[in-house]
Amino acid sequence: MKSYSLIAPGKINLYLEIIGDRADGFHELVMILQTIELADTIDLKPNDTQEITLHCNHPQVPRDETNLAYRAAKLMCKSFADAYANFGGVDITIAKNLPVAAGLAGGSANAAAVLVGMDLMWNLGLTQPELQDLAAKIGSDVPFCISGGTAIATGRGEKLDLITNLDNLWVVLAKYKNISVSTPWAYQTYRKNYRNSYVSDVKGIISRSDRVRSGDLMNAIIKQEGNKIGELLYNDLEKVVLPEYPKVAELRDMFAEAGVLGTMMSGSGPTVFALCENEEQAKDVMSRVRNNIADAELELWITKLGSSGIQLRDGK
Ligand code: C5P
Repeated sequence: MKSYSLIAPGKINLYLEIIGDRADGFHELVMILQTIELADTIDLKPNDTQEITLHCNHPQVPRDETNLAYRAAKLMCKSFADAYANFGGVDITIAKNLPVAAGLAGGSANAAAVLVGMDLMWNLGLTQPELQDLAAKIGSDVPFCISGGTAIATGRGEKLDLITNLDNLWVVLAKYKNISVSTPWAYQTYRKNYRNSYVSDVKGIISRSDRVRSGDLMNAIIKQEGNKIGELLYNDLEKVVLPEYPKVAELRDMFAEAGVLGTMMSGSGPTVFALCENEEQAKDVMSRVRNNIADAELELWITKLGSSGIQLRDGK
């Protein structure tokens, strides 16, 4: 049986609106998700045992069942018991380039790569919708990570409609190594503060997501208008995360002062991104921030917006 090597790109949110509570304890959302080219690499190797093993070059990444990639392998073994009995376990090796616990769906992208890779390894012939159904069992962002590109996501974040790819812009990402934000904390705090504005009836939920589907940001994306997209970035979770983490808010202010197309926190943070017209602007903005904040904990990356989710590495 063959080994596989896959590319697992991260994502940013161009839009994240919290509509209300769901019966399953999650939130009803409407989001616009965008792949970035910055990516982890996942190697999958069949082994002769019934074990799943996980290796990673990053010390903060767990090697056990709390790792979404591990959970994805486990789900494949459970869902395709015959293939598992025939072919045995898998060794997963993750080369981390994406910042960890950052709001960039790094863990979700790793899980998506394991699903796609094990489907190939076991020759299951699953369709993308079938892979995305499995993905939704692992986490809200995992289905998007499989297909990637630019998409509007509703429900928990797992219901996807692809939009015209927006891959001509660049981003600078900024994250403090010593700051991490718990996603459940961010959503729970939002619930505590904004429950009064939650919508719960089906008609109300549909009308909120329709407002985004036919709204100015979608229009700007379809027309590839970088300036407008930058102005219309939106994330409800900023309301709870930025007041609690002033250093994250400061990064956002600094990007705005640098005259970028737009700046926002991604997902539940703490990564802040700056949308830039081209690579030159991105490099200029990155060095300005680096010069203004002399903190060894601050990490910065430049990447381009991407057009596809999980990909096979060349020739592997
Ligand atoms: O699905 P995922 O593992 O990414 O979710 C992490 C946490 O974020 C959930 O446990 C929940 O607290 C919160 N969440 C939510 N509503 C969503 C997605 C996530 O409340 N639609």
